[in-house]
Parts: sequence; C-alpha cells; structure tokens
Amino acid sequence: MPKPVRYAVFPVAGLGTRLLPATKTMPKEMLTIVDRPLIQYAVDEAREAGIERLVFITGRGKASLVDYFDMAYELEKTMEERGKSKEPLAPSRAGFGELLTVRQQEPLGLGHAIWCARHITGDEPFAVLLPDDLMVGKPGALKQMMAAYEEHGGNIVCAQDVPREKTSSYGIVEPGESANGATEVKGMVEKPVPEDAPSTLGIVGRYILQPEVMDELSAHEKGAGGEIQLTDAMAKLIGKQPFHAVAVDAVRHDCGTKAGFALANLALGMDDPEVAPRLKEWLARNG
Ligand code: UTP
Repeated sequence: MPKPVRYAVFPVAGLGTRLLPATKTMPKEMLTIVDRPLIQYAVDEAREAGIERLVFITGRGKASLVDYFDMAYELEKTMEERGKSKEPLAPSRAGFGELLTVRQQEPLGLGHAIWCARHITGDEPFAVLLPDDLMVGKPGALKQMMAAYEEHGGNIVCAQDVPREKTSSYGIVEPGESANGATEVKGMVEKPVPEDAPSTLGIVGRYILQPEVMDELSAHEKGAGGEIQLTDAMAKLIGKQPFHAVAVDAVRHDCGTKAGFALANLALGMDDPEVAPRLKEWLARNG
C-alpha cells in the first residue's frame, strides 16, 4: 500500500494577468462560478478525495482566500438572530488546523510555489490542485486519481488529450504503456511547440507527488518562460519512481482564461436547478 496522501497544496500566488482588470484587487481563485468561488470547488474536491490538510501558497493581496475559510462571526450571529439558515456557509469553514498557509514572496513560477510548501509536507506524498482548472466529475478528479495511486503508487499527473496546436500551453507527456486509463510516463516537456511535442497528452491542474520532487525543485532551475517549472522537476523523477498519467472522467474548465471562465459559469449554471430555467429561457431567445 502506498503511503496515504493527507496534504493538498493549492498554489494561489499567481498574478492572474489574463483576467485583468477583475484580478487587480481580487485573487483569481476568489472569482465566482455560479454561487461559490473557484477555491471552494477545489477544496471540496480535495476533501472528497480524503485530504486532511489544505496548504495554500499565497502572496500579497491574497488574504481574502484565507479569510474566506475562517468563521464569519458577525455574519453568522446576525443570520442566527434573523432565523436564516447557515447551511450555505458550511463548506467555507475550515476545521481547526485544517488550513495552513505559506507565502510565496515573489511569483517565480508554479514549481517555486510548490517548493514553498516543503517544510509543511515534509516526507509525505501530497496532492496539488490548481483551482483555476475547474474539474467537474463524479467522483471528483482527485478521487479518481487516488484510485490509480493506490494501484501504482509513485507520482500521478492528470492528463487530457489537447489539440496539437495548443501543446505550447501545457506540460506534455511522452507516453509509454497504457492500462486501465493509466499511462506510464516516459518523459515530459513544458510548453513544447506542436512540432516538438512528444504527444498531445497534456497535463492539467491535478497531481499526486512524492516528497522527492521538493529536492529537484530546490535547484531553482528556470525553465519555459523564465519560471521555475513543476514539469521540469517532475521529469527528473521519471525512471527513479513510478510515474503515471491518468485520464480522469471529468470535464475541465480553464477558468484562468476569459472564455473558459464564462463557459464554466454557463455549464455549471445549466446544472443548477435554481439558475438553469432562466439560462435556458435566455439562450432560447438569444442563443
Ligand atoms: P498560471 O500559469 O495560471 O499563472 O498559474 P497566473 O499568474 O495565475 O495567471 P496569468 O497567466 O498571469 O493569467 C497556474 C497556477 O499556479 C499558481 C497560480 O496561482 C495558478 O493557480 N502560481 C503560478 C503560483 O502560485 N505562483 C507562481 O509563481 C505562479
């Protein structure tokens, strides 16, 4: 049995420049899809997968993400006095000691953000969830990946087929043998141009990683875009530890882009009984 995964790391220190001006004073992960911020979806997915400790990698201007998971004392008291149900607040309350935060003082890249969690995760395996990759599946994407982890151990990345002309937006896997939805990873390259991409299997924002990735990240080597890339550090573990790419049964919405964000609101709105009728009516008239 591989060591259980108890920690999930949520890197939320990015600048979110593609969604400006919305992200000028509001963290990207606090932007709302239907009735809850992106971070809530990612935390729900992690909890469903059995994660016990949530590690946020934050930075300047990100305090609202941590406040969001606090107890809103005045709000709760007023709601109680007015006889209003506090049930909608339940998922946004972290348990005592469930949420841990670390600052990434400079946004030096995703790999660097993960490395900032090393003193918390220590010698334990951990999951990574990028909240702007909203994954809609039942069970959730991370829970599906946990099933593959129990079978194979080692490192697991979530991978989806991407259009060849888009390979330069993803970490791309060089695939080996495949069985039961898990593909052996022989290599990986960050943001290759389509001609150089070893496949069209793109890594999306969910990972289960062994603690040794932190040693690789400590070299602080800069990769694509001059950033410290997680993909480059993960690639160094191939051949030393089991490494698989898992195709989960879930729809991904890239909420770090305007179109992906708008589509996610539409898709999840269509699944919400309170919202769907109005959306359908509007689409029938204007769609
Ligand atoms: P993105 O590549 O989406 O970058 O980061 P970004 O800065 O958030 O957004 P754009 O490109 O400027 O629009 C992927 C994930 O890694 C985190 C981000 O918060 C996001 O969850 N990240 C990225 C960090 O935490 N620190 C970094 O230095 C870079």
